[in-house]
Amino acid sequence: MKRITLAVTFFLVLSVCASASASTISRTPVQEKKSLYTRLGGYDAIALVVDDFITRLATDKRFEKFFTGFSDDSKKRLRQHILDQFCAAAGGPCVYTGREMRTSHKGLGITEADWDAAAKHLVAALDKYKVPEAEKNDLLAFVVSQKKDIVEK
Ligand code: HEM
Repeated sequence: MKRITLAVTFFLVLSVCASASASTISRTPVQEKKSLYTRLGGYDAIALVVDDFITRLATDKRFEKFFTGFSDDSKKRLRQHILDQFCAAAGGPCVYTGREMRTSHKGLGITEADWDAAAKHLVAALDKYKVPEAEKNDLLAFVVSQKKDIVEK
């Protein structure tokens, strides 16, 4: 009889402990919101968008004068800079090693209309890969924050 009482007590103590730890788990603070980098699908997903964006810019006559004389390697470097910039801005594990936007665009005479055309290409690239509205707007917000340093006219 003593043994049975001991076993029952032991079982009761175990269930109290189990329910206590379960309630601790359920009280764990809500997980931090995922970074934009993660929500966009990570590096490869961002690279697909950047490549599509650049292809659109490179094949648009309007932008021809800006990229005339660029070697294939210079284009690759520009592509990598834009990719690193987006990745870093989204909270990813990349480091942007390019120049400041004001420095690299100074003297190019980029107009408001050029800006609008470039922004449309970026939206088209994001839409092509079905980037959800929230992530699209977050990335566009970062790009728009640079407008004042890129547009001169
Ligand atoms: C849509 C927003 C834009 C973003 C995010 C962006 C981003 C960048 C980045 C990261 C670089 C590399 C900086 C470096 O070489 O160190 C760059 C360079 C450059 N961008 Fe933009 N840019 C934007 C808009 C534009 C527009 C609208 C034009 C032309 C109409 C333009 C033309 C150029 C050119 C020609 C360079 C190369 C400058 C050089 O190597 O001397 N960009 N841009």
